[in-house]
Amino acid sequence: MTTDAQKTLRSGAVTSFSESFSESVRAEMDGAVAVVMIDNPPVNALSHHVRRGLLDAMARVADDDGVDAVVLICSGRTFIAGADIKEFDRAPAPPGIHRVLDAIESCPKPVVAAMHGTAYGGGLETAMCAHYRLAAAAARLGLPEVKLGILPGAGGTQRLPRLVGVAKALEMCVTGDPIDAADALACGLIDAVIEDNGEAGGGSEADAGSEADAGSEAGGGAISEASGKSENGGLRAAAVAFARRRAVEGGPHPRARDLDAKLAEARASPAVFDEFKARFAARTRGFLAPELIAASIANSVSMDFEAGSARERELLIELLGGPQSAAQRHFFFAQRRAAKIDDGPPATPTRPVSEAGVVGAGTMGGGIAMCFANAGIGVTLVERDQAALDRGLAVVRRNYERTAARGGITGADAEARMGLIRGSLDLADLAGADVVIEAVFEDMDLKRRVFAALDAVAAPGAVLATNTSGLDVNGLAAETSRPESVIGMHFFSPANVMELVEVVRGAATSPEAVATAMATARRIGKIAVPVGVCPGFVGNRMLARRQAEAERIVLEGATPARVDRVLYDFGFPMGPFAMQDLAGLDIGWKAETSTEMIRDLAAGRGIEPRPVSDQEVLERCLYSMVNEGAKILEEGVAARPGDIDVVGVKGYGWPLYTGGPMFWADAAGLGRIAESIRDYHSRLGGRHWELSPLLERLAAEGSTFAGLL
Ligand code: CAA
Ligand code: NAI
Repeated sequence: MTTDAQKTLRSGAVTSFSESFSESVRAEMDGAVAVVMIDNPPVNALSHHVRRGLLDAMARVADDDGVDAVVLICSGRTFIAGADIKEFDRAPAPPGIHRVLDAIESCPKPVVAAMHGTAYGGGLETAMCAHYRLAAAAARLGLPEVKLGILPGAGGTQRLPRLVGVAKALEMCVTGDPIDAADALACGLIDAVIEDNGEAGGGSEADAGSEADAGSEAGGGAISEASGKSENGGLRAAAVAFARRRAVEGGPHPRARDLDAKLAEARASPAVFDEFKARFAARTRGFLAPELIAASIANSVSMDFEAGSARERELLIELLGGPQSAAQRHFFFAQRRAAKIDDGPPATPTRPVSEAGVVGAGTMGGGIAMCFANAGIGVTLVERDQAALDRGLAVVRRNYERTAARGGITGADAEARMGLIRGSLDLADLAGADVVIEAVFEDMDLKRRVFAALDAVAAPGAVLATNTSGLDVNGLAAETSRPESVIGMHFFSPANVMELVEVVRGAATSPEAVATAMATARRIGKIAVPVGVCPGFVGNRMLARRQAEAERIVLEGATPARVDRVLYDFGFPMGPFAMQDLAGLDIGWKAETSTEMIRDLAAGRGIEPRPVSDQEVLERCLYSMVNEGAKILEEGVAARPGDIDVVGVKGYGWPLYTGGPMFWADAAGLGRIAESIRDYHSRLGGRHWELSPLLERLAAEGSTFAGLL
């Protein structure tokens, strides 16, 4: 077969070239297959030089009679992970993505996309223009544009439903969550999965890898001879063999745009859209992009490909120019920036973490232990007595069993994770831990004693962290002979679910301990934000302001339910009183009784009830947080306004589509906010209404928090 194939291929003109088309795109021949390689670290984004290089490379291979087929592949850690988000704020340099994709799709030779890593956004849209798609077994494929407040605007909402059906396309585009290679094969997005050894792992194209090395003149092992990387060798060889076979079989080669069978299914059952909307209503509330994504996918069913694509572009432009996408793009970079410590020495070494310890197996300690076990890190969980330990471990087990019952993990996974958590009643069992997290009651004296005891047993250089909600980390460090190793790691409840960790740097905390805590948080799947010591750190300190204001507003005459409703309508998942109920303070038992109590309390404090408008409720709850955020920046407790935004969104449900409290304040206008704060201060008094000097200055200058960077 291989020989026949080669014979057939050799009947055309033989060509051999290795050519660069831009700084990030080159192509070389592998037999009669042109391998077009993208090398644009770190994530092979579709920057303008990638688009230019791809366009020129496609023109070159399309015209060359010696080229029978084309493989698109990337070097480094991933296939194209999307458009270059840094280019979104300016007019895109030519060529536009659509021109490039047309060149791929209309290529007269079969084009095979070989994906590994994260084939996301414009990357997956590029692959959907290829005639065939292969994915490494560990690859993840997705259209996460919705997370940036936009839609997959390079044909994604038109080609994906044709390939995988409307229901699957809606789910992928509206959640933005990636699917794995096996799922991609099952739903029709790809033609074959390629295992690490280059063997096809399933699908009708089980031959994909079998010819992996046949006829490979370039040896087929290296993804890029120039860069010396070979991690993709199996995938490349399989893709070349696959492409060669498709060339031998001849065309026409399938184009996603021509498929109709799965759209016909949706035409037959149009309820799919309403069912989907109902299912995702809570998750998408307030966001514009999901609505327009669903509309664009609906267009794929009701319009022809060209019309649907033209409308998709219009919707993309509408979203790109709107405030939600600007906010979500800001947040994307803020989240990544927060992970960086600007004032430490560059390349600070971190302590490798192979064992962890947690003290206290209550609500937080159990959840934190799960985070380590979920990441495959062994963890010793120390309690004060057997009953508390049994209780804590039972809760952890129940959580895992529930997740397994829902299909989130297998029963074997649950057992393996439980096996990584060892209960103990003796702090001395923490001697082997590289990081210990204390999560006993919020009681300073108790925590002091625990830190003194930890100092006596912990390994030299181990990071000793407290999960305190707001107590003085420096006071705890002072109980030890190694204050440089003491730090706060403030998880949020439920710790195994919430993504945020405030990493609280004490006065003496060493750069190594900070770097280790940040790296540990990231390793266990958290978003770590460095903050300084002050009561409540960043998040709880700002929230305390909102809570105080909400309570005061209630005394003035608004009901707790109305305060909650105003904040819910702004976009929080729940208002301040509902949040307190959830945390265990049941004030909402009976509306009339509690309103009566509130009136009595207000009268006792000499507060006259009066009508409070929704706007006043909103301003007082949010401006008090912004003012506090500005003070936090002034004091250096947070290094960047974006860090505060990350804490607000990830820790407290501040609506993502506004970008977080500081970004939202910039958009609302600092001048207007400062003026209102002055007004509230003169009417209501209270230290927290004293205008932050930083906010005052920025407002006077007509500047923004973002301008501080
Ligand atoms: N454009 C520009 N820069 C990007 C980028 C992108 N699409 N994706 C990641 N980066 C940058 C990050 O900012 C970061 O830069 P710094 O090192 O300077 O901070 C670097 O690449 C590494 O990123 P991560 O720290 O996030 O690395 P990771 O390994 O944890 O994750 C990833 C990698 C899964 C690809 C993740 O970065 C990611 O999800 N990126 C966004 C993907 C995305 O949204 N794609 C769709 C873009 S929109 C689009 O494609 C529109 C269209 O169709 C026209
Ligand atoms: P919890 O009351 O659920 O658990 C505390 C556990 O510590 C109990 O099981 C108790 O038996 C154990 N304990 C007490 N003394 C001990 C000792 N000497 N040695 C070993 N174990 C001991 O409390 P929770 O909610 O888990 O809080 C723990 C810490 O986390 C507190 O500092 C709290 O402020 C903080 N925190 C709590 C959050 C929450 O929402 N619950 C959120 C973020 C931080």
